[in-house]
Order: sequence, then C-alpha cells, then structure tokens
Amino acid sequence: MCDGSESQNQAEQNVYNLIQTNGTWSRRSPQQSQQGEGRLSAAKIYESRSDQGSCWTVVSPVTFTYRVLQCRDLLDEANDALLWGHVGDPEELRALKGRPGPVKRFVVMDEAVHALYGARVARYFEARGVAFRILPLPTTEENKSLELVTRILEEVHAFGIDRRAEPILAIGGGVCLDVAGLAASLYRRRTPYVRVPTTLLAYVDASVGAKTGVNFAGGKNKLGSYVPPAATLLDRGFLRSLPRRHLANGTAEMLKMALMKHRGLFELLEAEGPTMLSSSFQSPDRVGAEEPADAATESTRVAIETMLEELAPNLWEDDLDRLVDFGHLISPELEMTVLPALLHGEAVTIDMSFMLSVARERGLLTAQQQQRVLGCMRGLGLPVHHAACSLGLVRRALAGRLRHSAGSLRMPLPTGLGRAEIFHDISDETVCEAYSKWNQELSAPEDS
Ligand SMILES: NC(=O)c1ccc[n+]([C@@H]2O[C@H](COP(=O)([O-])OP(=O)(O)OC[C@H]3O[C@@H](n4cnc5c(N)ncnc54)[C@H](O)[C@@H]3O)[C@@H](O)[C@H]2O)c1
Ligand SMILES: [Zn+2]
Repeated sequence: MCDGSESQNQAEQNVYNLIQTNGTWSRRSPQQSQQGEGRLSAAKIYESRSDQGSCWTVVSPVTFTYRVLQCRDLLDEANDALLWGHVGDPEELRALKGRPGPVKRFVVMDEAVHALYGARVARYFEARGVAFRILPLPTTEENKSLELVTRILEEVHAFGIDRRAEPILAIGGGVCLDVAGLAASLYRRRTPYVRVPTTLLAYVDASVGAKTGVNFAGGKNKLGSYVPPAATLLDRGFLRSLPRRHLANGTAEMLKMALMKHRGLFELLEAEGPTMLSSSFQSPDRVGAEEPADAATESTRVAIETMLEELAPNLWEDDLDRLVDFGHLISPELEMTVLPALLHGEAVTIDMSFMLSVARERGLLTAQQQQRVLGCMRGLGLPVHHAACSLGLVRRALAGRLRHSAGSLRMPLPTGLGRAEIFHDISDETVCEAYSKWNQELSAPEDS
C-alpha cells in the first residue's frame, strides 16, 4: 500500500529503467542501463519501502499517433485513402498489402448517410475486392447509448476482423463517429478505427480529437474513452447533401475556435459565413495541383489547426484549463434538457452568447465587440438565446461542472476578438448579473 508514510521514506526510493534483452525485460539502475546492451523502454519503475511493505510506482508513457488527412473524392475507386489512409509508414503499407487473402473492412454508417452514400461505399469495396460488411444504424442523439455500442460489437464479432490489420470504419456525423469509436475502443480492449465525418461539425470537431462516447443516465457523453482513431479522412464533398441547419451547426464549433484564438477566422466567418453556408462549404474547382485559397478551404483548415493545437498536448484532458471548453459549460445541460430541439452546435452557441455577457459584465469585452459577435452568430443562422436556458439551468450546470473541476470553476472567456483567458474567479454574483442582462436583451418573443 502506498500512503502518507511513503513520503517520509523518500530517501529509500529507487528508480529503475527497463531493458529488453533476448525477449526478456529486466530492471536496471540508471548506471547499469548506461553500460548494458538491449532495448531501453521509456517506462520506469520507482520502488520504495515503508514499514507496511513495498510500493512500486509504474510510469509508462503511452504514445498515440493518428493522422488527420484531407482527401478529395474519397469514394472514387481509384482513391487509396478509404482503405489505406490510416497507414503512414510505406514499409507497413507494403506489408499489409502483401498479406494473403482478401482485405476485410467492417463499416458502421449513419442510416441517413447510408441511404445517400451506401451504394457508393459498397461499389468502392467491390471494385477493390474487399470482403466488407456495412452496418447502417440510426445514430441519432436520442439513440446515442450503450445499446448501439453493443449492437456494433456483436456484428463486428460475427463478421470477424484482425484487430491488428483491419480497422473499423465509421462514416457519418458526430454521433455515429462517437458511438463507433467507443465500440472500437472496447473491442479486444482497443481496435483501430477510422473516422469519415459527413457533417461539418464532425469535420471540424468531433473527428479530429481523441474522444468517443455515448449518453448515459440522462447525461451527455457520460460514458466514453480517450482513444483517437488511427486516422480521420476529411472529404468536404459529403457536405453537399447536408441540410443548411446542420451546416450552420458546424460553424458553431468553428466560431468557438475563432473567438478563443483566431481573429482572422472570426473575420472570415463574419464576412463569408453566409456565402459558405449557401455553397455547402464547397470550393471552386481546382485549377492545377494548387489547393484553392477560398474561404471554405481556409476557414476549415484554420479551425482544424487551432483545434489540434489545443487538443494534441492535452489528449486525455488532464489539464482542466481548456479553451476548447468555451461554449461547453452550460450547453450539455441545455442540449439534454430540450433534446431534440437544439442541435449540439446550437446549444454551444447559446452558451457562448451567454458567456459573452459574462465577459462583458467582467469588463473583458466592449458592448460593440459583443454585438459584433452576436451579429456573426445570427448571420450564420445560429440561435443566441433559448427560453429553456433559465438562470436555474445555468447555475445547476455550473455547479455540476465545479464538482468535476478540482475545486475551482474554470471559465474560458473572450478578452477581445480572437483572444481569451481562463478565469477561476467568476463569482455567482457576476453570473446572475450577466444572466439578467442577457435574458433581458436577447429573449425574443419567438423563442419563448
Ligand atoms: N468526440 C468529440 O470530440 C465530439 C466533439 C463535438 C461533438 N461531438 C458529438 O457529435 C454529435 C453531434 O454531431 P453532428 O452534429 O454531426 O450530429 P449527427 O451525427 O446527429 O448528424 C446530424 C444529422 O445529419 C445527418 N447527416 C450526416 N451526414 C449527412 C450528409 N452528408 N448529408 C445529409 N445528412 C447527413 C445525420 O443523419 C443526422 O440526422 C454530438 O453527439 C456531440 O456530442 C463529439
Ligand atoms: Zn462541441
């Protein structure tokens, strides 16, 4: 048992490296490991003794490597990416392609996406001689539960895959990717999976990080894992069929990143947002090999880059001070309370709109900046208020958040357009005052 007595015996603590020779791992003191041959692990074992016995502390760094890959025409039979985009190492790719027998792929698809693209996915695999099984599922927010995960696991098991070589593919919106990702992270303790986002929200957000999850006990994403995909394959072509409301929904997460850390992205969304929505975030046809520098390409690229910058150093969210939590303090409670009235990005926008008032109350934003952001939200067709977002709900959500925040509520707030800080000292009084003004200014007759 390790307890307080351990700290009194610090002097007795020994540190060991781990060296592998002829297939066997052994402990070595740092001096011994300098001389010896063999493979040195990054892991260490710290050993200490107290009156109660020994305590071994294992420190084993885990590395996750995953690719986020922009592709065009992902379902074109000539395009390798859907089958092999997750493999970055040419040696490994050669070995995988050279394996005997047919390549196998298990594919989970959102039911609606399947109706639109299922036949093309099937044609792709048929043309490439792949043994495949497509499982269309009703992956809606209301169905986002362990039952769907179990369903996937049963089907994967019946189909049979080699977890070292045959990743599970998930094609759909954020719900489908979250559910299939959780199933993959459970199957044989961790089976690689590949995400193919088909909504804008999943394209810029749900598919670029490590989180998987399902709703549980009335709470949003209360069960899940931090297991990134082997790869995320990004093709904006899928967005052509996405309804405008869902396109707008995705811009909410882009706006989040813009407000937190990128003024240029904010200005792009403000000026070009409505046009990008009208063109379903498509780019003009490419002339030559150059990637076009249009607003849709630029804004999605910046959204992903800024998101990855914040996620990569904190993949397991150990650090509680997270800019990416902006818009996500009260929105989970709101989204689940009114389900299915608000989409995820819509609830996030209402949260952000309220937080602008908190920032204003705290003197971080000018009235003009606040109005400019609200104007941008409206221009993107996003709601800035909802009748169900009562002061009671706000305080309940913040109190719930505080319980899981190591003693202080951490609030990312804009301190200008495209910059932010995390505040630990926003008082209940400030929240109440901000709420009263926010509600007075923004509650419109149509949302009551
Ligand atoms: N894992 C993460 O880090 C993370 C981050 C953000 C959001 N999320 C989760 O993502 C979910 C929201 O994702 P979403 O907004 O993509 O919702 P969604 O998965 O429900 O998809 C939205 C709707 O669009 C339809 N659809 C999907 N692609 C389409 C296409 N190309 N053409 C036409 N219709 C299409 C779907 O059938 C669905 O009705 C939430 O559950 C949220 O918790 C996860
Ligand atoms: Zn979100």
